[in-house]
Amino acid sequence: MSHESARYDFRNKTADYAALAQELEGLLAGEHDLIANAANATSLIYHALPDLNWCGVYLLRGKELIVGPFQGKPACVHIPLGKGVCGTAAAERRTIVVPDVHAFPGHIACDAASRSEIVIPLMGRSARTEGDYLLGVLDLDSPTPARFDDEDRRGLEALGAVFVKSLGA
Ligand code: SME
Repeated sequence: MSHESARYDFRNKTADYAALAQELEGLLAGEHDLIANAANATSLIYHALPDLNWCGVYLLRGKELIVGPFQGKPACVHIPLGKGVCGTAAAERRTIVVPDVHAFPGHIACDAASRSEIVIPLMGRSARTEGDYLLGVLDLDSPTPARFDDEDRRGLEALGAVFVKSLGA
């Protein structure tokens, strides 16, 4: 399969995130494998969004997060729940936007180039578990301070939801 991604300039973030969400839905359609879809989702996002140096998922394994498919430099593998930006977003099950990673207590530096970060919890819903459950988190890093605003948060939460839905989760 070849996939030539659309071009986005994000001058109209709402429109471009909506188009990217549709593109992601098409890219993942018919496939439910967690690793395959995490790999393609993070690649699509990394190449579509300007000004990123890392985009990937951390997956919940017991009481810790373990690195999954990503784009960017090699990253730390284990993150305990409650630690760093990823572990905090996972434990509190809410998106965390960090305008300045140096000012976030406990930030885990994987790539020294990272200056700002956003972490989105990936919540599944299943009849089996009766309610929401945490699959992991989507983590994006930028070399630019305060790279992520509220529109990015909304747009990326929607992309996270498309990814989770693709799993049949
Ligand atoms: N900065 C993250 C660790 C993961 S890397 O950014 C890829 C954190 O504090 O959880």
